[in-house]
Amino acid sequence: MAAGSVTARSEPEEFAAELRALYEAAGRPTYAQLVHQAGKRQPPVKFTVQSLSDWLRGVSVPNKPDKVEFLATYLGALASERGHGVHGAGWWEDLHDRAQKAKRASRGGRPSTRVRTSAGAAPARPSGGSRRFFNHLLDYHIEKFAGRDGEVRAILDYIDRHDRGYLFVDGFSGYGKTSLLAVLVRQQPGYLYHFISQRYKTPGGSFDPTRLDDLLSNICEQLEPARDAPLGGHALTVRFLEAVAVDRDTPTVLVLDAIDEVDKHPSFLLGLLQKQLPRNLFILLSARSQGDRSYLSEVGLTPGDIGLRVSLGGLDADAVRNLLLHHAGTAGATLGQRDGFVDTLCEVSAGDPFYLRFLIEDVEYGRLTPENIGQTPSGLYPYLEEQFNLFCRHADGDLHFEVVGHIVEAPGPLHYSDLLRLVVRRKPDMAGLLASGRLNQVLKDVQRFLLRTGEDWQEYTFCHNRFQDFFRKKIKYDVAS
Ligand SMILES: Nc1ncnc2c1ncn2[C@@H]1O[C@H](COP(=O)(O)OP(=O)(O)O)[C@@H](O)[C@H]1O
Ligand SMILES: [Mg+2]
Repeated sequence: MAAGSVTARSEPEEFAAELRALYEAAGRPTYAQLVHQAGKRQPPVKFTVQSLSDWLRGVSVPNKPDKVEFLATYLGALASERGHGVHGAGWWEDLHDRAQKAKRASRGGRPSTRVRTSAGAAPARPSGGSRRFFNHLLDYHIEKFAGRDGEVRAILDYIDRHDRGYLFVDGFSGYGKTSLLAVLVRQQPGYLYHFISQRYKTPGGSFDPTRLDDLLSNICEQLEPARDAPLGGHALTVRFLEAVAVDRDTPTVLVLDAIDEVDKHPSFLLGLLQKQLPRNLFILLSARSQGDRSYLSEVGLTPGDIGLRVSLGGLDADAVRNLLLHHAGTAGATLGQRDGFVDTLCEVSAGDPFYLRFLIEDVEYGRLTPENIGQTPSGLYPYLEEQFNLFCRHADGDLHFEVVGHIVEAPGPLHYSDLLRLVVRRKPDMAGLLASGRLNQVLKDVQRFLLRTGEDWQEYTFCHNRFQDFFRKKIKYDVAS
């Protein structure tokens, strides 16, 4: 966000954001641990895992100050141990008081909104450890991965043989850019990284990977771990430019995935990526291929500024065999040996990694066999079409569309309890049924297209933008007409 731009945040949102920041800084203890510790206080402080989850997500505000006092002191002690500066109990009491008053006022229909500048006196955002935000993303992309040995070798070789430079990975949506970079950063723990993922963005949350300030502070934190970065705005941008301008004694690799997922135009990265890099700094970028155009121009670079470009095509037969043998359970291990099966899988999928992931899961769960592989549609879109038709057949009334529609339109992962609330609002007569298992059943019917994320694995989002776009269009045009 540019210096001086304004964000409006209500006091309850502010309270939730601060609580999340403190929770992150404390190293994300489990909710159960917090409930347990609170219960050991004299007198005991009582709350449930669900209410804690609601407070952290800004769904509600604690009703009593003792809960806030406990969280401020307990989480504060953990955060201090980890080297973070924290606010005192009085500060929390005051913030909580204002949040409660605003909540009461808004129940009367008048939301309380405070406007402040992003560069102003916003209190501590978690510093240190922001890159842990990407753990789930890395796990998901690494879980079933094969091939790309040549690409990985080319990247490592380039870094070995040069003293600085830009590397650029491109490929169509779903061809495995994020997966490749995820594997690289897990293999090379010294690499610094940030994944600009729309699917993992949490609007209003304490960390949004698509927001400039969060990107810059995450990278500054990794480039200069011993130095606190400014909280945001111009000062943070200046700090980032300083930090990336320094000559280094040893190779430093900064990985920035999906620079095309910045949803601001012009891109907020324009002007931040200097053409000339200092000694021993490598910046590895990725973006979608866009026909003849290269996304590089949007961030102020040209193909001539790039030392190594890696373009991802489909996966080859060796990678497909590897996926079958090692990532599709015992069924896959058997079929991987079977004559012709790998070739047919390559033909059907055209090596499209996104499609292959579905097929490999189909093999793993016994849905894809030598007997029916002949009927599997060739190409991803006919396959998704077929899946969508299956989904429509499952649908009872319009409940399935209602549920998927909310997840499709949500700006980021949607928590189970929010989803339930949204669906019940539209279908109040089904409230009891939904809460007692019907919603879970619907989610099960579509789970293969969803990702579950969040601290309690209760947040739902689509497994890929490519699939989300497909579903959104289908629901909008086919179902509506
Ligand atoms: N090398 C690979 N091996 C197996 N699956 C892959 C590979 N690369 C990508 N995939 C799968 O394809 C899907 C899309 O990959 P992703 O990395 O998100 O693509 P992109 O970032 O290019 O849009 C994911 O489900 C991922 O697991
Ligand atoms: Mg990606």
